[in-house]
Amino acid sequence: MAEEKKDPALEAAIAKAEEAKRQAEERKKAEEAQKTAEENPFAIETNPFTRIKHVIGIVSGKGGVGKSSVTAGLAVELNRQGYRVGILDADITGPSIPRMFGVTRITGMQEELMIPAYTETGIRLISVNLLMEEEETPVIWRGPAIAGVVKQFWSDVVWGDLDYLLVDMPPGTGDVPLTVFQSLPVDGILMVTSPQSLVDMVVKKAFHMAEKMEIPVLGVVENFSYVQCPDCGRKIYVFGENKLDAWSEKTGVKICAKLPMDPEIAELSDTGRIEQLPVGLMADVAAVLPK
Ligand SMILES: Nc1ncnc2c1ncn2[C@@H]1O[C@H](COP(=O)(O)OP(=O)(O)OP(=O)(O)O)[C@@H](O)[C@H]1O
Ligand SMILES: [Mg+2]
Ligand SMILES: [Zn+2]
Repeated sequence: MAEEKKDPALEAAIAKAEEAKRQAEERKKAEEAQKTAEENPFAIETNPFTRIKHVIGIVSGKGGVGKSSVTAGLAVELNRQGYRVGILDADITGPSIPRMFGVTRITGMQEELMIPAYTETGIRLISVNLLMEEEETPVIWRGPAIAGVVKQFWSDVVWGDLDYLLVDMPPGTGDVPLTVFQSLPVDGILMVTSPQSLVDMVVKKAFHMAEKMEIPVLGVVENFSYVQCPDCGRKIYVFGENKLDAWSEKTGVKICAKLPMDPEIAELSDTGRIEQLPVGLMADVAAVLPK
């Protein structure tokens, strides 16, 4: 009987159908990948010389709470732990990262691309300050131009292989944080506050912005949290010890560290020696980052 025999024509038809099915599945997969890419129309590509594992944004509601110091200190800690770290200074109008590390110029250019500055211990930095002839020159660009510079710091810098790129954001919820959240693949943000400023509206806004853009808030760092008595080592919480706790409970954002107000931190960051920061100071902050 014909049905019992192997029919070469039938076999071929089955093979053909199976192949067609496999191809259709592959097409579907490719279409899905394409769709994911299209879901964020603002995303910008980096260059072939950049491979970054994690992008972390450091934000604050108000200026002057120590955001740049925390960014720099965290980079130092991660670098000491053996990770490859870069800092993108997105505070275009108030850049302060290069000064903390005592560097003044980028390494150079590779055709159209910028090679970041390398600090003494090998942390890679990009900042408008590293591109200016005179560090003092005020930056007067506005809105879209500033956002454009931040995008270039992502797309046109030879970052190489990095475990972490830390993005030091200007304070508040303006164009730059929005651009960074929209255009860069930010894995999570760290918020920096001081005990006097947490209750302000701006930090809540920053938090809601991150929430809306579905970027996880990894934790909040309270800077200037206490002073330590030089005689007995007792911690004195000048502004009260538990001001953050209620907010943390309400929002579910973890308090990852409370850092002291310490003249040594100011001294090191203001004289370009942030890489000599006391060992372990930022370890609790580093611990909340994705591995
Ligand atoms: N824990 C600390 N103890 C003592 N001084 C500190 C501490 N953290 C930061 N500072 C000092 O406070 C000043 C402001 O810090 P920093 O520049 O890091 O703040 P910022 O939030 O980045 O400010 P901006 O809004 O201007 O970007 C600097 O002089 C810095 O050295
Ligand atoms: Mg700053
Ligand atoms: Zn004491």
